[in-house]
Amino acid sequence: MTAEAALATSPHPAARRTDAEWWRQAAVYQIYPRSFADADGNGIGDLKGVADRVPYLRELGIDAVWLSPFYPSALADGGYDVDDYRDVDPKIGTLADFDAMAEALHAAGIKLIVDIVPNHTSDRHEWFKEALASPKGSPERDRYIFRDGLGPDGAQPPSDWTSGFGGPAWEPVGDGQWYHHFFAREQPDLNWRNPEVREDFLKTLRFWSDRGVDGFRVDVAHGLSKDLPEELPTQAELDAIPVDGNHPVWDRDDVHEIYAEWRQVFDEYDPPRIAVAEAWVASDRRPAYASPRGLGQAFNFDLLGARFDAAQFREIVAFNLELAARSGSSSTWVLSNHDVVRHATRYGLPPEPAEPREDGSLPAESDATQKTGTSWLLHRGREPELKAERGLRRARAATLFELALPGSAYIYQGEELGLHEVADIADEDRQDPTFFRSPGVSVGRDGCRVPLPWSAGGESLGFGGSAHIPQPEWFAEHSVEREDGDPDSTLSLYRRALALRGELRTEERLEWLETGDPQVLAFRRPNGWVNVTNFGEGPFPLPEPLRGEVLVGSVALEEEGTLPGEASVWLKA
Ligand code: NOJ
Repeated sequence: MTAEAALATSPHPAARRTDAEWWRQAAVYQIYPRSFADADGNGIGDLKGVADRVPYLRELGIDAVWLSPFYPSALADGGYDVDDYRDVDPKIGTLADFDAMAEALHAAGIKLIVDIVPNHTSDRHEWFKEALASPKGSPERDRYIFRDGLGPDGAQPPSDWTSGFGGPAWEPVGDGQWYHHFFAREQPDLNWRNPEVREDFLKTLRFWSDRGVDGFRVDVAHGLSKDLPEELPTQAELDAIPVDGNHPVWDRDDVHEIYAEWRQVFDEYDPPRIAVAEAWVASDRRPAYASPRGLGQAFNFDLLGARFDAAQFREIVAFNLELAARSGSSSTWVLSNHDVVRHATRYGLPPEPAEPREDGSLPAESDATQKTGTSWLLHRGREPELKAERGLRRARAATLFELALPGSAYIYQGEELGLHEVADIADEDRQDPTFFRSPGVSVGRDGCRVPLPWSAGGESLGFGGSAHIPQPEWFAEHSVEREDGDPDSTLSLYRRALALRGELRTEERLEWLETGDPQVLAFRRPNGWVNVTNFGEGPFPLPEPLRGEVLVGSVALEEEGTLPGEASVWLKA
């Protein structure tokens, strides 16, 4: 069968997703709703915008949508500061809009996963308002983590702990007490030892499950359980405590008691609701989150930290397939999301130095960077170093490699258009608290959250009203309108690979093939298809066992069956 015929006869992925295990090898598309599509023209993407674009999503060929927070929020942290877990932000819609969107997705055979943010509420949540209005030691304060300040009048913070976004992790409330927030000050951490907190989240899980939601992405899943001693360690002491299940804050073994309760709720439904943990933990501790007795799946972020490098990619894949098998889950693969520099840009930048200097300038590359070679945040001044075309070429290859792997692939909105990170956002247009709290050293995550370009012209390139983060001119080149009919566009590449991917979802196995070149990886899937990825710069003449009909390629093969440098191809070898 030719590649065209394989495409034509392969049913839409939706047709294969009737069983409870649909998530194991799903392609999940992350929508950051405020930057996806703005139907009401107020400059902020909305749920109606998502519903209107269901035909686009269907054509893309994804199996599920993961919707980042859409709850009422002051947007101190892009919606991860939730005022009310059982409602929709009026700026982006209503519960009725949510239902209509869910229905439209389901009618197109696309599942819906929603983000749930249990580590912290926003400071506008009813509970937090009650906590502030209630005295020290009250049940209202016990839902959060309050501590007395140090010094005679409690004017000093309870410890020197710092927030993950920069600045202090304690905020005074004016009566000698302080509350803990690992993220922004608008995100007070919940006390998960409080039974009311636990009960209320079960209610929230049922609320959305009853509305037909298929699963949950669990924010900061490794942070909920905290066991803070009476005498708090210093930040340095805290950092020195091994994260082995008994750390006061991170990845405690008893966090899994929470997820065992959640599992009971998931299993009340048919098919059971699914969950995926966002847990930044040592890889050998990931299986506990992915256990079928717990959340069932966990993000594997290892590829996010890897360079475009054959040895790193191979090691990561082999290791994670083994880990997934150990947990009884399937592996997950992520190249981009709303928290990191887009992969087209990462692969076009030289490896990032470990830390910028005080003044924001960059020291020479350090050993640590040599190891990780990643660019989590685009520090100021790196833009001229970007080799944009090369980055995109590599990104297309990495994506084809990723989509051929067993397990589920999480795709971030805009990567299918080959978007780069937007580096030149004016300070006054920035929104990310990491920018304000660093302060200004890290440019933060807004560069991957710029509203999508749907058309090549018009106000906000078809996004809707005036975009809440301005789009650069070059976005037009990457618009859906431009890429739609172009067979060589990144959008066409994603569509084609995702349509074919259904054929690969047989078993969660792959067999590595010898290529004779350390820069070239090749593996065969159980249906016989082979992925060959050339991480090197030079061309790779495909040896006889790796020749065959090309199903999809990040670039065209050169004559005589030669795979160009920094390219990937799926073959029927
Ligand atoms: C992880 C989310 O992905 C990120 O965007 C957010 O800022 C933090 N958790 C805090 O909720």
